[in-house]
Amino acid sequence: MNKWQQLEHKYYMPAFERIPVTLIRGQGVRVWDDSGREYLDFIAGWAVNSLGHCHPAVVEAVTQQLNTLIHVSNSYYTIPQIELAELLVQNSCLDKVFFCNSGAEATEGAVKLARRYGHLHLNGAYEVITATGSFHGRTLAMVSASGQLKFQKPYIPLPSGFINVDYNNIEAIEAAINEKTCAVMLEPIQGEGGVNLPDKNYLKTVSELCRQRGVLFVLDEIQTGIGRTGSLFAYEHYGIEPDIITLAKGLASGIPIGAILAKERASVFSPGEHGSTFGGNPVACVAGLATLKFIIDKNISENARLMGQSLSNGLEKLKKKYSFITDIRGLGLLQAMEFNTDIAQSLMLICLEYGLLVNKLKDNALRFMPPLIIGKSEVDEALAILDKALIAIKKQV
Ligand SMILES: Cc1ncc(COP(=O)(O)O)c(C=O)c1O
Repeated sequence: MNKWQQLEHKYYMPAFERIPVTLIRGQGVRVWDDSGREYLDFIAGWAVNSLGHCHPAVVEAVTQQLNTLIHVSNSYYTIPQIELAELLVQNSCLDKVFFCNSGAEATEGAVKLARRYGHLHLNGAYEVITATGSFHGRTLAMVSASGQLKFQKPYIPLPSGFINVDYNNIEAIEAAINEKTCAVMLEPIQGEGGVNLPDKNYLKTVSELCRQRGVLFVLDEIQTGIGRTGSLFAYEHYGIEPDIITLAKGLASGIPIGAILAKERASVFSPGEHGSTFGGNPVACVAGLATLKFIIDKNISENARLMGQSLSNGLEKLKKKYSFITDIRGLGLLQAMEFNTDIAQSLMLICLEYGLLVNKLKDNALRFMPPLIIGKSEVDEALAILDKALIAIKKQV
């Protein structure tokens, strides 16, 4: 252990399973550790650095804002907040925005919004239906909302009001909706749960079902939003218009931010019913504005689509070459590779050794989510490193 790892062990709560590398600098799609080693970054801070590391557009906007106004309370109007809200509305099917600081806060806020809607329009309905394998964040309520026992077990008893049903099962949702339901909340593609894609027509049918039964349809686009899947929002792939979406991660290219976007009819907070000290802070919002403008102006979503295709084609080729690779799945620059055995940890560490950062999604799967500005040569470089790592691991399988 180096000095920093020792100090972390001494002073930091052991909540994270850390990889033994201390990163100190980033530029574009690369990061460097404290010994000067360079890595190609296919994690991007868990799908956060959409424009890569230290993109000049973000750095310039944030630096200028730091010299102008860092923070004031939400009792006052601030221009970056309003401009970012306007840009999000102009480029989505939603009408109103609320900013917070993280993904969990955004989904929890969306649930509060749905409950408020239930109070006002659905005779006090308050239950939210979610799917098995979903991930909506780490607050107690969002742990309860998420359909993964491993995140729930250490914290039982959990807040009530969430009904968890089988993912990709329309009948299960249909059966679960009753007079207590105010919303159905799904990820368009389950990220943390395994890069699980929805069956054809699943999201559209759920959306129609919600409309018929008068409950809100909430999409958690925290991982899939802001260009990652090859369109600005993943809902666009499925011909649907959700009532509420949540965003965070890639929205401000690394500066903490979260957002709830709602259709006019679902935007039911009255003054004082929800709030945030830091949410919509000028620094976070200029970072969001710089990121979103760049993504829209330069059509970075299209780059994510094309590079996602190159990546998935390359991963498919590797699947043909190595029989222990059982599945390649994903959309745009959110891709996963699954194995018939638990080699993800070892493979991730071999990739690290060869200069590539990848995410261990499960014991038997890796996830790839590089910055959206990535180029073809960098995708090829990552695939070549992965190929080399697979050769090395083949001896162990
Ligand atoms: C779909 C989804 N929702 C919510 C969250 C929680 O976001 P945060 O870690 O910013 O609270 C995540 C994080 O991985 C996520 O992928």
